[in-house]
Amino acid sequence: VTPVGCLVDGRPAQQVPLTDRGLQYGHGVFETIAWTGGRAQFWRQHLQRMQRGCERLLIPMPEPERLWQEVKQVTAGHAGPAVVKITVTRGDSVRGYLADSHSPARRIVCRFPWPERQSPAEGIRLALCRQPVGYNPSLAGIKHLNRLEQVLARQEWRSPEFGEGVMLDQQKHVISGTMSNVFVVKDDRLLTPVLSGAGVEGVIRGVVLELAEKLGIGSQVAPVPLHQVDLCSEMFVTNSLIGICPVRRFNGKEFASPGEVTATLIEQLADSLEQ
Ligand SMILES: Cc1ncc(COP(=O)(O)O)c(C=O)c1O
Repeated sequence: VTPVGCLVDGRPAQQVPLTDRGLQYGHGVFETIAWTGGRAQFWRQHLQRMQRGCERLLIPMPEPERLWQEVKQVTAGHAGPAVVKITVTRGDSVRGYLADSHSPARRIVCRFPWPERQSPAEGIRLALCRQPVGYNPSLAGIKHLNRLEQVLARQEWRSPEFGEGVMLDQQKHVISGTMSNVFVVKDDRLLTPVLSGAGVEGVIRGVVLELAEKLGIGSQVAPVPLHQVDLCSEMFVTNSLIGICPVRRFNGKEFASPGEVTATLIEQLADSLEQ
């Protein structure tokens, strides 16, 4: 899949220099955004996470208005659906880890076609990945460019039988999917892994927790040992492109797909997008 439109620092381009610190060290952050109905879905939340990531990685955050103008430029004339990806790197260094305090951040804003394969309404099966997620509180939560754990985990299955893979930390606690956040439902209450030591704080994860509160559905953000998933009645995964995707089977356990709580949240998420 090639980007259909791409701006690098505001100019049409398909390349970055060899000196880019995103390329050299993964020194950067990115956001993958659903562009539908002529709108960037959950734009505010994506920008907030990007801001947190830039602060953590000591990258000067680009002006939000500038990013917005660039998103409008790559999507001009397209109502969607499309995927907009924004990458911000720490700019250039000839060599060496020390960043030049004067070099500006680099902005890469691209539009991609919407993925053809949609997640099926009847739910997906999840693989259990062997690749663990490392503990690192200073990088946890943000969407930085170093995604090697997810890259390795994603090579573990090729069969279309599995729609996503679940990743655990060294203590065998569920952290997330390779490209999504994980929720389970037990006794009509939501449970999702705490991400203070690993994982990405997904935009849709945040939206789901807010919707649950609004609807009076109890929710808990806590460690989720793998064996606890067996005791749950529903499971779903979330990200900006799939939204909320019910899970049919994981680790030898069949789930209601979609279960009642999941179906309610899917409906509410769709409603909140129409507003
Ligand atoms: C590792 C990981 N966790 C979670 C998510 C979900 O994030 P969001 O809801 O912001 O798309 C992603 C999205 O790509 C991801 O790669």
